[in-house]
Amino acid sequence: MDPARGKILDVGSFGLNQSHLPAHDAGPFDPRDLFASPKNLFELEIGTGKGTFLVQQAVRQPDTNFLGIEWTAEFWRYAADRVRRRELSNIRVLHTDATELCRYWLPDEIATVIHLYFSDPWPKTRHNKRRVVQDETLRHFHRVLKPEGELRLVTDHVELWKWYQEHAERNANLFHIKPFLSPESAREGEMVGTNFERKFAREGRPFMAMTLVKRQAPMAARLSGQSAGKSVGNSAGNSSSIQPNPRSFSRLPDRSPL
Ligand SMILES: C[S@@+](CC[C@H](N)C(=O)[O-])C[C@H]1O[C@@H](n2cnc3c(N)ncnc32)[C@H](O)[C@@H]1O
Repeated sequence: MDPARGKILDVGSFGLNQSHLPAHDAGPFDPRDLFASPKNLFELEIGTGKGTFLVQQAVRQPDTNFLGIEWTAEFWRYAADRVRRRELSNIRVLHTDATELCRYWLPDEIATVIHLYFSDPWPKTRHNKRRVVQDETLRHFHRVLKPEGELRLVTDHVELWKWYQEHAERNANLFHIKPFLSPESAREGEMVGTNFERKFAREGRPFMAMTLVKRQAPMAARLSGQSAGKSVGNSAGNSSSIQPNPRSFSRLPDRSPL
């Protein structure tokens, strides 16, 4: 797989990898500090691919910082090179597994939006556990999102869509559903305008989308009988108690050797 088709790519200071994360025992990692204006709004995109959504949307939201997370080295390099060439100082692209980053590194309540577009469907039952959306990752997304923060999901895959619906229903204590609104950067008739969307649109595939809105902690606690912080599996319920897993990123090397 060579999205660059032989072209030499340079990620510059826009592409980061695991060496930029603190040691597993050094506490959480706040990605907002990667930016010149760390107090600006912050959004995450999981599975950035070639970076099309990020480069389109970041110019329309110059006061928002975006972190793209991509675990396939070739796509990470391609997206970061694109960001560097356009000098989009409000984007960084990190080469890692987003689920493990959320689970072990990211602090509470930092993001206003988590974007997840055309995520890998992993259709075989034995591979379903590799899907990004799981009950556990939803609890972490809830924790990482600010109050009223949004998880925005789009897929072309009917089975994955059913999976999203089931997970949304089962985690109704954490999120309520609202209709998906296309970002400003989407072209006429597009949901988002990612690379995969444009490819799938040419094939005539239908798209399904939803937005999950974070419920406020009291509502989440009332419905689940515990605080939202506690639900992520750390006893104190705050980010400082989250211990990165020394065995983390175990899934990365077999998918995308650095
Ligand atoms: C089907 S592609 C879609 C790319 C892009 N969102 C688009 O719509 O054009 C899914 C991407 O998500 C990445 N990916 C899947 N799971 C991931 C994870 N846990 N962390 C980071 N990236 C992931 C894959 O490497 C792949 O590039």
